[in-house]
Formats: sequence, structure tokens, C-alpha cells
Amino acid sequence: MLDKLKEIEKAALESLAVVSDQSALDAWRVANVGRSSPLMQVFAGLGKLSKEEKPVVGAAANQVKIVLEAALEEKSQAVKNAMLAKSLAEEKLDVTLPGREVNIGRLHPSTQQLRRVLSILAEMGFQVYTSREVESDEMNFQMLNFAPHHPAREMQDSFYIDVDPSAGSGSREDNPILMRTHTSPGQIRAMREASANNPQNPPPIRIALPGMCYRYEQITARSEIQFNQVEGLAVGEGITFADLKGTLTDFARRMFGHDARVRFRASYFPFTEPSAEVDVECFVCGGKGCQVCKNSGWLEILGSGMVHPNVLQNGGYDPKRYTGFAFGMGTERQLMLRNKITDIRYFWGNDVRFLDQF
Ligand code: DAH
Repeated sequence: MLDKLKEIEKAALESLAVVSDQSALDAWRVANVGRSSPLMQVFAGLGKLSKEEKPVVGAAANQVKIVLEAALEEKSQAVKNAMLAKSLAEEKLDVTLPGREVNIGRLHPSTQQLRRVLSILAEMGFQVYTSREVESDEMNFQMLNFAPHHPAREMQDSFYIDVDPSAGSGSREDNPILMRTHTSPGQIRAMREASANNPQNPPPIRIALPGMCYRYEQITARSEIQFNQVEGLAVGEGITFADLKGTLTDFARRMFGHDARVRFRASYFPFTEPSAEVDVECFVCGGKGCQVCKNSGWLEILGSGMVHPNVLQNGGYDPKRYTGFAFGMGTERQLMLRNKITDIRYFWGNDVRFLDQF
């Protein structure tokens, strides 16, 4: 019996030696010191032993039990320590690692430029008016003095969106719907809104019309199918070309710097007469001539002119009494000049490396 106890102790300690986690430890406990373990069987069998054997075997069995329980306690502590060490190692925090970069969103460069332009015009007394991006052919062209077959329409090949060949619509003689090709139709809408309330005596207008325009273009480094424009319109009594020159010169100085030189070049637009394009002295080379200004020393920044009498009429203003001037500029173009961006496709290409720089 004493030999058997020695066996039990030896086997138990050996199997405990290879236990390394909690579940194996629990299994070991059941198998070695549990109710039906060999050791407990010895205790259960004590009654069948002789008077002389009983105390000897009982004492020896108790001794084995003490040894095994002590070993269990020690192992239990070791397993706990090992688990703690493992989780500490796994969850180790390296406080010397650089932090994760936080990406801060920002306004699109075009929106930033649009707001720059609008805030300058607002300082100069222009009120912002937003007009629709989906227009009728009538507003986009006809009311602006483009006749149905006016050659100027060729400059603005358009996205028509209600072309229905079976109904015979979509021809330019009808009034199809299109994406506006410029912000100028907003002139008509703003004038009509202002004149509708008081047809006999419509109020003076000084407005800025910002927004996206669309043209059916081949997308290249120099042309895109969408771009932002800001349109300006002033209508009232006694407005002259001198007002146009003064206003646009002031605008250019506020936009490009106080000593910016500007020049007006005669041009043609169907909705203005006379018409002029405005150049600013090249701010890259200071007018000496460089790649950006193509050696001319000047950069074209906008189109302008005195509002054509037909356009005033279409807006509900009597051209015998009222005059006005208008101008329109592309905001991406201004940014390209300002930042020497050579490819307009960057603007809508959604490349964060480009957008991040603004
Ligand atoms: N609408 C013209 C364009 O898209 C720009 C323009 C020129 C607007 C002259 C005007 C203007 O108001 O007077 O090319």
C-alpha cells in the first residue's frame, strides 16, 4: 500500500509538471485530488485495512495529499503569473511610437477661391445670388441675345438633358433643358425677380452669381467639362463704362495686390455691348514675359461689358432708362494662374496629394 502511495505521488507530480494553463490544471485537480482520484480511493479503503496498517497508511496518504495540494497551489500561482505576463506582453503599449495622423478636412481649393472672390465683391457692395445649374436653353442662350443659330453658341457646346428624338425636341429652336454653360443666365433670373415687384420702377441691382458651369468639352490639361464661375451684374440709372472700369480695376487690385496693373481689351459677347476682356499684369514675371503669361506679360482674368439693351429688356428693365455692366470669371483659372497649376484636371481628379496643398 505504501508503495502504491509512492506511485500515486510520483505519477501525479509528473503529470503536474507539464501542466501550463488553467484548464489543464482544473483537469489535473479532478484527476489527482478529486473525489474519485486514486489517492481518495486509498482514503476510502482505509476501513478495510488491519488495525496496525490503518494508521501507517493513513498517515502516509495524508502526507501525499499535503504534498499534492502544496504542489497544486504552487502550480496554480505559476499558471496565473504566466497568464499575466502573457497578457502584459501582448497588450504592451509602446509610448515612443508616433501618434496616428489625424486627417483634417478642408474646403476644396475651388470653393476657397470662390469664397475669396465673393468676399471681395461683397466688400464692394455686391449681394450674392445663387441661380440654378439646370437651365433652359431660353435662359442660357436666347434671353442673353444668342439667336438660335448664333455662332457664339459654338463656343459652348452643351449638355442637353431632355433630348427626346421621338418628340422632335432637343433641337435648338425648341427650349430644351441643359446644364448651364455659364453663370450669365442668372442675370436674367435676378433682374426678373427684382423687376417683377415693381415693373414701372425696378430697383438698382448689384449682385454676384457664383457656381458650377458645364460644357461638353474634351477633357484635357486646359479644358474641363465643369468649372466654377462668378458673374457680376450691376443695373441702375446712369451706370457707365467708367463704372465698369473702376469696379473691375478695384476688384483686380483687391484680388491680385494693390499695385496690380490691369488693361481692358475690346472683345465680343452677345449679351454685352461694348464688350471687353480684362487682363492683369502677369504676377509671375511682373510683366517681363514668362511661360505662365506666354511671354505677353499679361494674364486674362475675366470677360465683361455693358449689358446689351435686349438683355435689360428681357430682364424687365427699360433700356432707355437703365444701363448696367456685367462680368464673368473662372475661379479655377485664377487659382491656376496664382499657383502655377498646369493641369486643370487636378481640380476634379480627387487626388488628396493635390487637394492637401491648399
Ligand atoms: N459668360 C461668359 C463666358 O462664360 C463670361 C462673361 C463675359 C460674362 C462677359 C459676362 C460678361 O457677364 O459681361 O465665357
